Amino acid sequence: MKNTVSTFKNKKAKGEKISMLTAYDYSTAKLIDESGINGILVGDSLGMVVLGYDDTLPVTMEDMIHHTKAVSKGAKNALVVGDMPFMSYQVSVEEAVYNAGRLIKEGGCQAVKLEGGATVCNQIRAITNASIPVMAHIGLTPQSVNAFGGFKVQGKNEEDAKRLIEEAKAVEEAGAFAVVLECVPEKLAEIITNSISIPTIGIGAGRKCDGQILVYQDMLGMFSNFTPKFVKRFANVGEIMTEAFKQYIAEINDGKFPSDEHTFAISDDIINKLY
Ligand code: KIV
Repeated sequence: MKNTVSTFKNKKAKGEKISMLTAYDYSTAKLIDESGINGILVGDSLGMVVLGYDDTLPVTMEDMIHHTKAVSKGAKNALVVGDMPFMSYQVSVEEAVYNAGRLIKEGGCQAVKLEGGATVCNQIRAITNASIPVMAHIGLTPQSVNAFGGFKVQGKNEEDAKRLIEEAKAVEEAGAFAVVLECVPEKLAEIITNSISIPTIGIGAGRKCDGQILVYQDMLGMFSNFTPKFVKRFANVGEIMTEAFKQYIAEINDGKFPSDEHTFAISDDIINKLY
C-alpha cells in the first residue's frame, strides 16, 4: 500500500511510529522500499554523502531532480519527499512554488521538504496552496551551517528552546504536514511533539518524536568522514564493501576471476575458422 501524507497523519493519531531513511538512487531506494519503510527523503545531504562536498550548500535543483527521479522509480510504496536545495526557496515565494513544482513534476516525488521556521512560512503556505505537501525542518538546519557557526545541537538555552517551540507551531499553522527536528535535546523534542498535531520526524532528537530518519550511508557504516553522536550503525556495510573490493582485485591479479562459470562459450568449429 502506498504511504501518503494521510498515512503519516493517521500514524501520529494512533501513536504508531513513522520510519524514514534517505536514498539517492534507484537500487538503494528499491531495497529500502521493499523493507517496508514509510517514507524516503531524497535529502540534499547527497551533496556530502554522494557528491563529496563539505556541506549541502552547493547542491542544485538539477542535482535534486536527477536523484529524485531515480528514487521515485525505485520506491513503489514509500512516500517520496524531495529536498529543496539552498537558494531554491529563500529568494522569493514565487521561486519556491516554481521549484517545488519542478521536484514534483520532473522528480516524481509526492512531497517536498524545506528548512526553516517563521522565515519560510510564506513559502510553506504558498507551496501547500499549490497542492504540494510540505515537510518542514527546524533545529539544526544544515543549509544555515555558516550562520550557526558549525553543526551544533540547537535549542539548549531557554530563548532558543522557546523559539523552536514557536517555529514548530508556525510551520504547522502554515500548512506543513510534518516537521523534521534535527539535533535538539530529547526533552525539548518531546514538548514540541506534544504541542503540535503534525508528526515530528527526529534525527538526533531522541525517542519521543513521532518518527525517525537517518542518512542511509550513516546507519550502514558507509560514510566515515564524520559520524554524528545520534547515528546508530545497524550494519558495517562499508567494511563488507572494502573486503569485497580487495578480494576482487586479488582474484584479478591471481587469475581466479573470471572463472569458467562467468565466461561465455563458443564452438571450436567457429573458432577454427577465425585463424
Ligand atoms: O538532507 C537530509 O538528508 C536531511 C535529513 C538529515 C533530515 O535533511
